Amino acid sequence: MQHEQLAAFPEDFLWGASTSAYQAEGAWDADGKGPSVVDLHLHRPEGVTDFTVAADHYHRFREDVELFAELGLTAYRFSIAWTRIVPDGDGEVNPAGVAHYHRVIDALLARGIEPVVTMYHFDLPAALDAKGGWSERSTIEAFERYARILFQEYGSKVKHWLTINEQNMMILHGKAIGTTGRSGQVEGRELYQQNHHMFLAQAKAMALCHQLLPGAKIGPAPNIVSVYPATCAPEDVVAADDWDAIRNLLYLDLAVRGSYHPLAWVYLKAKGWEPEILDGDLELLAEAKPDFLAFNYYSTQTVGASRGDASDIQVRGGDQQVVRGEIGLYRAVKNEHLPVNAFGWEIDPVGFRTTMRRLWDRYRLPLIITENGLGAFDELVDGRVHDDYRIEFLKLHLEQIQLAISDGVEVFGYCPWTAIDLVSTHQGVSKRYGFIYVDRTEDDLKQLARVRKDSFFWYQDVIASGGDSLSS
Ligand code: BG6
Repeated sequence: MQHEQLAAFPEDFLWGASTSAYQAEGAWDADGKGPSVVDLHLHRPEGVTDFTVAADHYHRFREDVELFAELGLTAYRFSIAWTRIVPDGDGEVNPAGVAHYHRVIDALLARGIEPVVTMYHFDLPAALDAKGGWSERSTIEAFERYARILFQEYGSKVKHWLTINEQNMMILHGKAIGTTGRSGQVEGRELYQQNHHMFLAQAKAMALCHQLLPGAKIGPAPNIVSVYPATCAPEDVVAADDWDAIRNLLYLDLAVRGSYHPLAWVYLKAKGWEPEILDGDLELLAEAKPDFLAFNYYSTQTVGASRGDASDIQVRGGDQQVVRGEIGLYRAVKNEHLPVNAFGWEIDPVGFRTTMRRLWDRYRLPLIITENGLGAFDELVDGRVHDDYRIEFLKLHLEQIQLAISDGVEVFGYCPWTAIDLVSTHQGVSKRYGFIYVDRTEDDLKQLARVRKDSFFWYQDVIASGGDSLSS
């Protein structure tokens, strides 16, 4: 649909940016923090996944919040490290960790920046992992208790909560992300049992939030892609629907409707992977209702009908955005209409609009984008970072938000990945996303100085104009 005139961004639109605790904070064992599964992956063989110092956001958050205020952010999406609050996941509360996030939240509020808090972004406490992690129902209780602590401590200050970041990526690519620890080594039925337990934990957190904090809003934050059929051949459309169910709708339907998507359930049963569901589980899932849908968007994916042989198993894309075919189901296909970034991720701004339209159509919940961005090997030259490629990427995606809003979709915020450079899940600090450059390399921490990139000044203009500068 073409619009003669585009709708304006809402007055109270959340102009944000994102980070996660383990990728930005560093201070991995400071002030009583316990180890998380991510910390167990320090110094993986590739040698690039060192989160010990990261951007040192833990110690420099005041300086960073000042920069966020200068940027004009009206929201900052960050995660709380479970292991700072409860170092072993289910034992003693750590007052120093609790105090830290009070300081962060207070600093944000003092500068008029709304905190959008992710409760769990890949960093399961290692002590819980050692006890079986999400394979055990006791982890559900531990998460509920952690959620209660967060709501009691920060509930008077935080109005937007995100439960679990990218549960679908932890299930589908947990090993690749390297963030699900020992229990992340599981496969098949046990993996989907973990998935079920995470949904129960999320449902309990949502119910508790509504019970304790009537004014707050809470929602899930999966990674969502629109799935395209390779051609208009009906068999390709069926394959696209199958993969959409397994990758997206399984997670969305459980979070929003509290029920297993039928196609996804048939898939799990056919594999022998259906989880054990105890009495009361489905009621709990159905009763917990999110107030909004947050999602991370980087790309779309294209699949074709299975050929029924090994040629189905082709890998397209990369990292979390990878698509692997599955014999008898679908095969990954290159989308000839789309460019790819340096890491093989297809770039699809129009697919972003499609994704928003589809989510709105299916669930009719307000949307907030909690990640979207371009990873690149930025270079600091004479004190400047000319990241025009990032500006282009973000501009094209923001234009699609405005189109989606004009289409009637309710979108209330945009938090691109990332506010400030941090450690990527796969390519260390060299792959950068931020509006603010952090001057360090993999091996040399230098002064960790903060440098405003060209995209910083561009986004500052966009925010100051309420989005009007996009069309000028
Ligand atoms: C998302 C994660 O999957 O993608 C982030 O929520 C991650 O934690 C982001 O950093 C980008 O991926 P990468 O591999 O480029 O860091």
